[in-house]
Amino acid sequence: MDIRVIIGDIASQHADAVVVNLFEGVSSPGGATGAVDGMLGGAITQLIADGDIKGKLGEFTMIHSFGKLPSKRVVVAGLGKATEFNQDKVRRVAAETARYLRSHGCQRAATIVHGAGIGGLDPSLAAQALAEGTLMGLYTFRRHKAKKKEDDPEMHELLVVELEARKAKALDLGIRRGTILAEATNLCRDLANESSNNMTPTDLAAQAQGVADRHGLDIQVLDRAEMKSLGMGALLAVAQGSAEPPKFIVLRYRAAGAPEGKAALGLLGKGVTFDSGGISIKSATNMDHMKGDMAGGAAVIAAMGAIAQFRPAINVVGVVPAAENLPSATAYKPGDIVRAMNGKTIEVLNTDAEGRMLLADALSWGRKEGLSPMVDVATLTGACAVALGPFHSGVMGNNQPLIDKVLQAGKSSGEPFWQLPLTEEYKELVRSDVADVRQTGTGNGGGAITAAQMLAEFAEDTPWAHLDIAPTARTDRERGATVKGHTGVAVRTLVHLTLALAEE
Ligand code: BES
Ligand code: MN
Ligand code: ZN
Repeated sequence: MDIRVIIGDIASQHADAVVVNLFEGVSSPGGATGAVDGMLGGAITQLIADGDIKGKLGEFTMIHSFGKLPSKRVVVAGLGKATEFNQDKVRRVAAETARYLRSHGCQRAATIVHGAGIGGLDPSLAAQALAEGTLMGLYTFRRHKAKKKEDDPEMHELLVVELEARKAKALDLGIRRGTILAEATNLCRDLANESSNNMTPTDLAAQAQGVADRHGLDIQVLDRAEMKSLGMGALLAVAQGSAEPPKFIVLRYRAAGAPEGKAALGLLGKGVTFDSGGISIKSATNMDHMKGDMAGGAAVIAAMGAIAQFRPAINVVGVVPAAENLPSATAYKPGDIVRAMNGKTIEVLNTDAEGRMLLADALSWGRKEGLSPMVDVATLTGACAVALGPFHSGVMGNNQPLIDKVLQAGKSSGEPFWQLPLTEEYKELVRSDVADVRQTGTGNGGGAITAAQMLAEFAEDTPWAHLDIAPTARTDRERGATVKGHTGVAVRTLVHLTLALAEE
């Protein structure tokens, strides 16, 4: 789908539909909506007066132009209360508009930028949100379905129409940025929605190779033997239960303008391509969801591709430890003691706590590589979803300024995070009688926190933040720019965080 800026008058566009908007409570529309209303002989004003258009968020009204405009249809999108309007609402309205147009068979539409006029938003940010919402909202995962697009036409063009020529540059920039961010998010969704038989660690590494080729990143993929010689006993313990070989994927972005001697930022993503729980096997209900247990790794791969396009002045290394967690004759077992790459031994208590095993070695590797700060992203604990519900991801770490930057990056992305405590009391919950670290807490609650505390033992004194996206990685409801299935959460947060760190 192509989104581009046109300087001109929305009313005179030739398209399947033109999209204008209305804030709640407005009885006589101004701006572009007013101009279209005038050409329609006051039809919009009349519909408002009759109570058929209220301007509520989520409200769409289709009006046929019957030759009064070059376009056959006018769609009036409600924006809700002007006082509550922000970039997030633009994303939501854009996403819902795009789906509304698609469901009405409109393949070519023209729209004004919601919020850039009387909404008072920065035109570039509004245009970015418009592109993000449109491209993310139209996402579908149907590569395994026989029914092709001819029966169900996709939108293929959105013209973003602006009257004032001086705004063109800002809108264009916003659309370019929004497109990169949305396409990266949709790539993450594609990887996470894919079935585990089609997205093994080997497949995930091939996808990372594709991103590296397309965007000019360096890539290195370590195999089992190389991991063994590095001493990655925690990751290998998980991988030993599966016939699928594990992969340790490293993507490197080298900045042209990065300050000499500044450490590279490390982005680490859990890449469990299927999590059965292993010997501590999960129950059957919803076990299929665990094909998406590499959503953190997918977010890192997709974010690295976007970062390469934004070209920030900071070196970034993306790390994705990838393995499958299965029960078998060779699987690791509760009670096993394994040694991670940093030399610390881990007492295994529940083979379903596999994500932290992979990340323990990834954090150890990152420290040896000198990455700082490190940010990991993982569908790590059901406990985090229990604590937060479906709208916030969890964040914890050992460095408050870094956590604050994650919270801020999440806000700018429309991907809210909520911090959970990781104070020193929690250390005793991962103390083991027989090894250096317990893999899990002692079963007295706080599962999201004890998981983070276990990771903290491997981040050691490197500034580190841990993003638990188990609450938000997938959804059963269509809501604004997210559709059913994987959400692609954390891609945009990681990119915004990277851009912010590059500014320092
Ligand atoms: N991948 C799961 C966490 C998860 C659960 C993600 C539901 C998304 C939805 C993780 O590997 C896991 O199994 N965690 C266990 C940890 C426990 C064994 C300490 C959990 O959350 O129950
Ligand atoms: Mn698990
Ligand atoms: Zn898992």
